[in-house]
Amino acid sequence: MKILGIESSCDETAVAIFDTDAGLLSHEIHSQIALHAEYGGVVPELASRDHVRKAIPLTRLVLDAAGCQRGDIDGIAYTAGPGLVGALLVGACIGRSLAWSWDIPSVEVHHMEGHLLAPMLEPDPPEFPFVALLVSGGHTLLIHVAARGDYRFLGQSLDDAAGEAFDKTAKLLGLSYPGGPSLAALAKQGNPDRFRFPRPMTDRPGMDMSFSGLKTFAVNTMASVDGTDSDRADIARAFEDAVADTLAIKCKRALQATGLKSLVVSGGVSANLHLRLRLDSMLAKEGARGYYPRQDLCTDNAAMIAYAGAQRLLKGAATDTAIEVRPRWPLDELRPL
Ligand code: KG4
Ligand code: ZN
Repeated sequence: MKILGIESSCDETAVAIFDTDAGLLSHEIHSQIALHAEYGGVVPELASRDHVRKAIPLTRLVLDAAGCQRGDIDGIAYTAGPGLVGALLVGACIGRSLAWSWDIPSVEVHHMEGHLLAPMLEPDPPEFPFVALLVSGGHTLLIHVAARGDYRFLGQSLDDAAGEAFDKTAKLLGLSYPGGPSLAALAKQGNPDRFRFPRPMTDRPGMDMSFSGLKTFAVNTMASVDGTDSDRADIARAFEDAVADTLAIKCKRALQATGLKSLVVSGGVSANLHLRLRLDSMLAKEGARGYYPRQDLCTDNAAMIAYAGAQRLLKGAATDTAIEVRPRWPLDELRPL
């Protein structure tokens, strides 16, 4: 079965084709970073208009790259939430309309379920059950994953998501949007011993997290120095260390609380190599193993949407032709397949 996936929840337009026998056949991502950069963040109306421009050309590209005709596609999966309402509606309208005109089923996909299942596209995928850490621009979630669609929250950020904290701190350091990757690059040159940022909410039990205080800590630290290049690099390093350490401590608790030995880490921030190293050293001590998506499938993409949708379509989960999106959609509302 060949599934066409469409992702348009935020500032990436992406289309992919996943084959349930042969795996990922093709995927394309158009990033809107340049479009939003001068505003320092995503402008929803500009995002929607750009999705309209790019979705169909990208669909043609992935069909060609996979050597497929439209008649070869057996189903369509599109992100129905959470995300920006206008942006989601573009993907939903195109997904539903193509499915209707090609006379094939279509299915709604939860964006975060897509991230959660992204490591399944790798050669050595994890087996259920496992603990998942989802770290993106909008979410920081620790989840007990019993099976596909069976998600129980163990902990979450009570304020800013980890990616959001990266983006805000990067802005403070004068780095351009989106800040995560540029802050990580700057942190490489920083001295790890100069500043020590707190590890929020690690001095009490539990798996909930808080990252907004780190940004405030960065503001205050910045105010106490001259703001030279080396000051900024040292602050970036201290910030990145604090996020990585805090996430590792919370993941260790999740593994110990559940007795599980597999940790899936996904979402944009999982691209961070420093975080991966920190998690891997914790995992080695716990006798556990980490599963990450390949670098280009950490951030938003349609391969994960096509994959997650394919699993639902295989179970007969095609939805009707209504075009509905859910800008807010708690992941634990999903039900086991
Ligand atoms: O999953 P994603 O592409 O979109 C959402 O669903 O939110 O995640 C985007 C987030 C942004 O906050 C971005 O700054 C962050 O992931 N990010 C990173 C890195 N690459 C992307 N944060 C830290 N280090 C990175 N290398
Ligand atoms: Zn995402």
